[in-house]
Amino acid sequence: MERSLVLIKPDAIQRGLAGAIISRLERRGLKIAAMKMLQMDKTLAQRHYAIHQGKAFFNDLVEFITSSPIIAAVFEGEKAVETIRQTMGETDPAKASPGSIRGDLGMDIQQNLVHGSDTAENAEKEIALFFCPEEILDYAKDIGR
Ligand code: RTP
Ligand code: MG
Repeated sequence: MERSLVLIKPDAIQRGLAGAIISRLERRGLKIAAMKMLQMDKTLAQRHYAIHQGKAFFNDLVEFITSSPIIAAVFEGEKAVETIRQTMGETDPAKASPGSIRGDLGMDIQQNLVHGSDTAENAEKEIALFFCPEEILDYAKDIGR
């Protein structure tokens, strides 16, 4: 089963949209395998967004993502990476389709509510930055009622 790292970004927490975003992913059929609230420090932010180092928006991005608490989660499912990216919508909310998280709830290319890993390979690397193996729970969704 594929896994993806999701971050509910500071703007989503500030606007009280964490539940709505998690709910959209749950309702899509994705399974929560791990979840925690934390405030990212500069070192973690620079490691998580290392691919963007040197870009014009990098320093602002690090400042934003460390500005207040976030929720980090591991979601699991068939094609979880692609499904989550589609549910999030394009990076720029102005271009994101209505019906997507960013298309429905966002306005700002930086403060765009949510992060989702862009490949399964990157997902595993990102997950390891936020969670130790014991924090990722293996369970069946089979309550049968
Ligand atoms: P994310 O990594 O957060 O899931 O978003 P993404 O793949 O859709 O976008 P990416 O290109 O990886 O950019 C990472 C985050 O950097 C901020 N950004 N700001 N000001 C700008 O032009 C700009 N471009 C990107 C956004 O917060 C974006 O999600
Ligand atoms: Mg990205």
